[in-house]
Amino acid sequence: MKQTHFSQSTKEELTAAATTTEGGWSRRGFLQRAGALAGGVVLGGAAAGGAAEPPVIPGLAKVPDDPNAAAGWKPISDRKLRVGLVGNGVCKFAPAFGFQDHPNVQVVAVSDLEPDRCAEMAKVCRCPKTYPSLAELVKDDTIEAVFVATDAPSHARHCIEVLQHGKHVASAVPAMFGSLEEGEQLLEAVRRSGRRYMMFETSAFHEDLAAMRRIYQAGGLGKLVYTEGEYYHFMPEPIDSYHGWRVGLPPQWYPTHSNAYYHCVTGGRFTEVSCLGIPSGIAHLQPGNNPYKNAFGTEIALFRTSEGGTARMAVSWDTPGAGGEVGRVRGTKGSFYGQYEGLEKNLPDLRRPPLPPGVAGGGHGGSHGHLMNEFVSAIFQDRAPLVDITMALHLTAAGIVAHQSAQRGGEWLKIPHYQL
Ligand SMILES: NC(=O)c1ccc[n+]([C@@H]2O[C@H](COP(=O)([O-])OP(=O)(O)OC[C@H]3O[C@@H](n4cnc5c(N)ncnc54)[C@H](O)[C@@H]3O)[C@@H](O)[C@H]2O)c1
Repeated sequence: MKQTHFSQSTKEELTAAATTTEGGWSRRGFLQRAGALAGGVVLGGAAAGGAAEPPVIPGLAKVPDDPNAAAGWKPISDRKLRVGLVGNGVCKFAPAFGFQDHPNVQVVAVSDLEPDRCAEMAKVCRCPKTYPSLAELVKDDTIEAVFVATDAPSHARHCIEVLQHGKHVASAVPAMFGSLEEGEQLLEAVRRSGRRYMMFETSAFHEDLAAMRRIYQAGGLGKLVYTEGEYYHFMPEPIDSYHGWRVGLPPQWYPTHSNAYYHCVTGGRFTEVSCLGIPSGIAHLQPGNNPYKNAFGTEIALFRTSEGGTARMAVSWDTPGAGGEVGRVRGTKGSFYGQYEGLEKNLPDLRRPPLPPGVAGGGHGGSHGHLMNEFVSAIFQDRAPLVDITMALHLTAAGIVAHQSAQRGGEWLKIPHYQL
């Protein structure tokens, strides 16, 4: 496995590059210096001016469509929700959830800062109207709801901007990036706007997690005593990203895929955490080589849950092998380890809800279409979506506090409780 070793002067340059310009640091400067000085520790991609092969990103592989996915679907409105899509980055994420295929959605406009990405999204979404930035798109009064799939450090700021323009908003994960204050600001913006907020946590509609949720709600798991979740994504070199936000990313700042195996099953939350961080041997995870001064490539968190149980949630960037987002639950009445085993004999229907005709389940285990449909349905039905603002904040804040705990050698720390 290729590893790049930075000299001390290189580290200083990288740190300097990483702490300049808007938002605290500059992606272009960082990538260019990292690429030039470190022999390409960051994958090139269009942004860095290289012609690198597109990275294979776990979770984005197309899953075979379920031919019966639309069975039982009933329309919930006779009109179309007018939606704007923002962010066609390395994961091509804004167009990936099928808004353009929903019978009750009209994609009014799309936006990405990079004109070629914007043009590509317009084509994929069959939507001729484009804006050069989110700031311009949100001024369009015909748009009712926006999906924000920009870089993770911008999610909270961008969602607040959308809400301030009186529009509903859905966000890619995480809700906020390493900052509990941003979470408070986002919550306040949701309160003031009276609009719907949803985070598109892909694990929430994994087939197994959706089944766990149904069984939990039917009482078949009892109280969860112990939950395990993992998000393993081996990144010896970080995937390209806007302003290089994935370079040296603290693992528990990206905690929602694993934490979902508790929050999105039970609707509960974590109350406190002790987390251990394991210093990494990988170059971009040396504290001098990333803007977060992060040393950890793996962080293992032990949480206490709001039900009085425990959960162990792991995020790792530096361990090759089995990857993805997985989890298991053990409760007082049953467990789910790939299948249900427990005391309940009459299980509910475990299938995910029907999808509108023409909408594919899509990536991340067929979860994309379900998340998009849940957001659209919640707006039409004037109800909170599954991963609403408080669940999104609980999912994300738990990891931010976990990383703080890891930095303090595993000290137990309280996790904020959010209420709308
Ligand atoms: N399983 C999952 O849920 C999952 C998987 C992959 C990515 N994601 C999330 O999706 C998001 C997008 O991922 P990515 O890898 O494509 O990100 P990226 O950093 O490669 O791309 C972000 C894009 O947003 C655009 N952008 C930034 N600010 C903008 C603005 N003001 N107006 C218009 N466009 C703007 C940039 O030009 C860029 O193309 C990330 O936040 C990531 O965390 C989630």
